[in-house]
Amino acid sequence: MNHNIAIDGPAGAGKSTVAKSIAKELHYIYVDTGAMYRAMALYLLRKGIDPKDSKQIEEACEIVDITLDYVNNEQVVLLNGENVNGLIRTEEVSAMASESSKNGKVRERLVSLQQALAKRTDVVMDGRDIGTVVLPDAFLKIYLTASTAVRAKRRYDELKEKGTDGISLAEIEKDIEARDRQDMTREISPLKQAEDAILVDSSALSAEEVVEKIVSLVKDNYKE
Ligand code: DC
Repeated sequence: MNHNIAIDGPAGAGKSTVAKSIAKELHYIYVDTGAMYRAMALYLLRKGIDPKDSKQIEEACEIVDITLDYVNNEQVVLLNGENVNGLIRTEEVSAMASESSKNGKVRERLVSLQQALAKRTDVVMDGRDIGTVVLPDAFLKIYLTASTAVRAKRRYDELKEKGTDGISLAEIEKDIEARDRQDMTREISPLKQAEDAILVDSSALSAEEVVEKIVSLVKDNYKE
C-alpha cells in the first residue's frame, strides 16, 4: 500500500514549508510539483514564447526535458540538465507558470513524471491537482489554505527578507488574487479541494502547528 500524502492549496498557503518538514519527520521524499511548472515556464520565457500560443507550447513540450534530482535531500529541478532552482522563484516566472500550466500537454507531461515518482517511493507531494488528479488514491489528502491577506503578507515578508523590495503589499495581494482566479477557474485540473481531502486553514496557525496537525492525521490514518 502506498502512504503518499497529497497537499493542495492556493499560492502562499505554506504548502512547501509544511510539506518539507513533514517529509523530513516521516522520512518521505518531498516533491514540489510547482517547481516543475516553474521550470517549464522559465523555458518558455527564455524562448520568448507567448503563454497563450498553445501550438508553440505543445512543440516545446516535445523537446524540453524536466527532471527532478535530490542532492542532500533537497529537491533540484533540472531543465535540460541545468539546475534552475535559483531562477524559478521570481514574480515573472510565477505568472508565466500559472498561465502556461493551463495547457493540457504541459500537464500531461508533468503529471506522468509526478506519478512515476510517487510509485517508486512514499512522497509528500504538493501542488494544485495532487489529490484530485495526480494521486487520487493518496493515503492522506490535505487542502491547505489561508486568507488572501495572510498569504500576501507572508509573501511580502519573504521577499523583504531576501532583500527583494520594490513591490508593495497591495501589488502582491493583487497578484495572488489573479493567480488564484487563474488556477481555480482553468478548464483542465483546476485547483479545488478533493472530496476526501481534509481542510486545514493556516491563517491563524504557525508552520509548526500545521506540521503537527498533519503528522498527527497521518498517524491516525495508520491506526485505522
Ligand atoms: O506552487 P507554485 O506556486 O510553485 O506553482 C506555480 C504555478 O504552477 C501555479 O500558479 C499553478 C501551477 N501548478 C499547477 O498547475 N499544478 C500543480 N500541481 C502545481 C503548480
